[in-house]
Amino acid sequence: MDIRIATKQDCDSIKKIYSSAFPKDESEIVTKLAIALLSENTTPSTIPLIAEANGSVVGHITFSPVGIKSDESCQAYILAPLAVQPNYQKRRIGSKLIEYGMQQLLTIGGNIVFVYGDPKYYGRFGFNAETARNYTAPYKLQYPFGWQAIVLNEYILEKVPVAINCVASLCDPKLW
Ligand SMILES: CC(C)(COP(=O)(O)OP(=O)(O)OC[C@H]1O[C@@H](n2cnc3c(N)ncnc32)[C@H](O)[C@@H]1OP(=O)(O)O)[C@@H](O)C(=O)NCCC(=O)NCCS
Repeated sequence: MDIRIATKQDCDSIKKIYSSAFPKDESEIVTKLAIALLSENTTPSTIPLIAEANGSVVGHITFSPVGIKSDESCQAYILAPLAVQPNYQKRRIGSKLIEYGMQQLLTIGGNIVFVYGDPKYYGRFGFNAETARNYTAPYKLQYPFGWQAIVLNEYILEKVPVAINCVASLCDPKLW
């Protein structure tokens, strides 16, 4: 299995992954997000990655930068979305995409990475709700327990609540 940066040429493969991995009522909005993030021109860069196995694209993940209003020097990111094609699941492809991306963020000086998802899955990688507690998501969360974060490079967490903002592709309350 290889991991590489995703490009707009991967759109069709990415659409296939999300429409097969997510239930029908969720797949449309998550697919739209995955595709829109390919066109985000951010500083620092948005990092879309794909996993390839046997010549096909079988997994996808994106890390995009997050702004922390009270601390512009903090290099924060959010992991969203993530999916692995169903017939390739449970082979650690999702884990490898997360680990590869986190290693990249560690290397470029990332400080904190947020995720909004199932704690039973993301907890395996060290994400937890306590770390995210003082970072207020940009929209009201339907599942507040899913809001988690992990610290990189010995970043010192905010002690009082601060607001965060995301790239345009994530600015849709239906995603939260
Ligand atoms: C979640 C997902 C990306 C994991 O990809 P994967 O390549 O199968 O993951 P890995 O092989 O690294 O890990 C598989 C393990 O995670 C577990 N797992 C998967 N989804 C989980 C969830 N929502 N909650 C808890 N555990 C989960 C599997 O049961 C498996 O457990 P095991 O190691 O004990 O067998 C994949 O299942 C997927 O695409 N799901 C649908 C889309 C989705 O839910 N995306 C994430 C949004 S939060």
